[in-house]
Amino acid sequence: MSDREIASQDYQLFRNYLEKQCGIVLGDNKQYLVRSRLSPLLRKFQIDSLAQLIAKVVNSHDRTLREAVIDAMTTNETLWFRDTYPFELLKSQLFAKFKGKSSPLKIWSAACSSGQEPYSIAMTALEYQQRNPGAFPGGVQIVGTDISVDMLNRCKAAEYDNLSLSRGLSEDRKRQFFEPTANGTLKLKSQVTSMVSFKPINLLDSYASMGRFDLVFCRNVLIYFSPASKAKILQQIAASLQNEGVLFLGASESMSGLSDAFSMVRCSPGLYYVKK
Ligand SMILES: C[S@@+](CC[C@H](N)C(=O)[O-])C[C@H]1O[C@@H](n2cnc3c(N)ncnc32)[C@H](O)[C@@H]1O
Repeated sequence: MSDREIASQDYQLFRNYLEKQCGIVLGDNKQYLVRSRLSPLLRKFQIDSLAQLIAKVVNSHDRTLREAVIDAMTTNETLWFRDTYPFELLKSQLFAKFKGKSSPLKIWSAACSSGQEPYSIAMTALEYQQRNPGAFPGGVQIVGTDISVDMLNRCKAAEYDNLSLSRGLSEDRKRQFFEPTANGTLKLKSQVTSMVSFKPINLLDSYASMGRFDLVFCRNVLIYFSPASKAKILQQIAASLQNEGVLFLGASESMSGLSDAFSMVRCSPGLYYVKK
């Protein structure tokens, strides 16, 4: 067996480990995925084979290796103003619910990847306030969280290359909210970054310490989890929302059969959930 092959008992061991660590469920025949995602770590950590890497990450408490393995196994695909409708709904109906709020309007982007989602929410809130001056006297506080340390560092840098900027961002918004850097990238202006803070949160852990939110975006992450993990996360999100707080899931995600803590509000286009 080559140093890049994965024996079936090692694959089982790794699948169980990954699901326990971060909820991601790997299908029966995803050895190729594990191989392609973990192989680059062999050289970095000077480990001879994938079998040894799996044994090391499963049995040791090497935090750096653990984080690198989770970073490698998570899918970080994201874009600006993804699916459009959640941001349109914020402007057309949801922000109005919180107009005049004297305490901060609190919004959580759970599983925020490289920051496009929380920063799109911040730009939307700024645009809303341009048209509705003084709408949020208590200010707007957005928190972006993710399990991936690498992604959170990118969020904090708030600097994006041409490829990521070309995905969902209008020229108008580029001009208004970004400034050029010496390396040819664009960086978000402090007007936007000052509204958003970031911290590591594993959705499988407790997040009671984060306080309560008015709006939660938890999009395109539950799709990787088992029904039991999804149900547990939805229950915890419900507990993190104010009464009648609003939750957005990804466009292809549904909570049917998983939670009765929310009512679904259908819009055209899109939908959101309100805590009962
Ligand atoms: C596909 S991205 C979604 C990004 C953004 N929400 C969007 O819809 O564009 C999924 C993100 O979930 C994160 N993730 C995976 N498992 C997680 C967990 N257990 N806790 C928190 N974040 C997790 C990944 O690191 C990744 O950045």
